[in-house]
Amino acid sequence: MRPLSMEELPWDKFPENRRRVFLRVDFNVPMKAGKILDDFRIRQSIPTIKNLIEKKCIIVIGAHMGRPQKKKDSERSSLSLLAVAQYLAEVLDREVLFSEDLVGSAVRKLIFDGRPGTVILLENLRFDSREESDDLGFAERLMEERDIYIDDAFGACHRAHSSIHAVAKLARYKAMGYLLKKEWDCLNKVLHHPENPQMAILGGAKLEDKIAVIEALMRTCKTICVGGRMGLAFLAARGQKLGASTLSKESIQLAKRLIGDAKKHGIEILVPIDGRVGQSLEGTEARVVKLDGSYEIAENEGVFDIGPETLAVWSKALDAAKTIVWNGPMGVFENPCFAEGTLRIVDFLVEHKDKIHSIVGGGETVAAVAQRGALDKLYHISTGGGAMLEFLEGRELPGIEVLKLREREIQEIQDGRMAS
Ligand code: 3PG
Repeated sequence: MRPLSMEELPWDKFPENRRRVFLRVDFNVPMKAGKILDDFRIRQSIPTIKNLIEKKCIIVIGAHMGRPQKKKDSERSSLSLLAVAQYLAEVLDREVLFSEDLVGSAVRKLIFDGRPGTVILLENLRFDSREESDDLGFAERLMEERDIYIDDAFGACHRAHSSIHAVAKLARYKAMGYLLKKEWDCLNKVLHHPENPQMAILGGAKLEDKIAVIEALMRTCKTICVGGRMGLAFLAARGQKLGASTLSKESIQLAKRLIGDAKKHGIEILVPIDGRVGQSLEGTEARVVKLDGSYEIAENEGVFDIGPETLAVWSKALDAAKTIVWNGPMGVFENPCFAEGTLRIVDFLVEHKDKIHSIVGGGETVAAVAQRGALDKLYHISTGGGAMLEFLEGRELPGIEVLKLREREIQEIQDGRMAS
């Protein structure tokens, strides 16, 4: 069972006036006062949209923004996709029709009046509560007058929502867009057919949140570097005092368990041997100190970044990798005093890009790569935060599972036997 890629659909069997596509994307991008702060996710789906335009489709795009069901009515308008429609029109250099109605006669009219290459963006699908409840009736209406479903919304594939799951159950012709296909190929490789040696760099705040992904990566990685606040849990597990950087009992217990498991399976877990300490996250001063127990961290100091010796030791180990999976920053990189560790990891991956395939994901991690101007310089930057982690944990993502077809079904589609 596997999902089809959009190139495998029998396009020649669709007359040009019947190429009506419902395209689901993840345009859930940071916005402030109607301005897009980071367009990374949107840009990643542009090749799919352009290709559908070239194929002379009428493209109805569905997307979500934020979690409007949890907001007061008065705050919902800040989650409109109108600014995204304007942005798309600029990038595509063509008119993009914006529909406040998600379903019904207004959308049908736009489709009927559309010409090959017409692009329509629907308002935030989550404005309708049926979206998040995977409502089949809503899905039927989303597919009205549409023949083909293309999913390019990797970042939302871990959600069993109507426009991702129910719609794909109904759609006769369904396939992955270019972005989803690339995500699926890269992450499948990491999980099932790694190019060895595969290593991982993990960071971020809570070990509890990443435990499942660490355990999964321990099956394919011989070396795992752990930084950020998560890395400190491993230091605390061996009894080190970390000043104001206090760790939960749970994370220390988990770190102890992982150290034991790693030993049993011959896996190297590399933890920080030095770090940058300061008096607060927002501090304007930082000092490098040893984290090997030889230095006493003051009660009012916290560890907010990894240090240069750690980077040197990790770089030496990582140099032998063919694939590196990276998720989570090494410190509080938003503050220049504590950014060095995270940004030097970006530099390392860029310097080794011809030798090492790096697969990077997570909102903050991608922001750090962007800060270094390296978004186009690495092998694969995932658009998925939660979706990437769930995929790497080995969990089935509803949005991908529902696209999978048996070889017989694929054959039937390609032979045109399923055409109406
Ligand atoms: C994301 O930003 O991770 C995706 O767009 C999914 O959003 P959600 O966590 O609100 O479902």
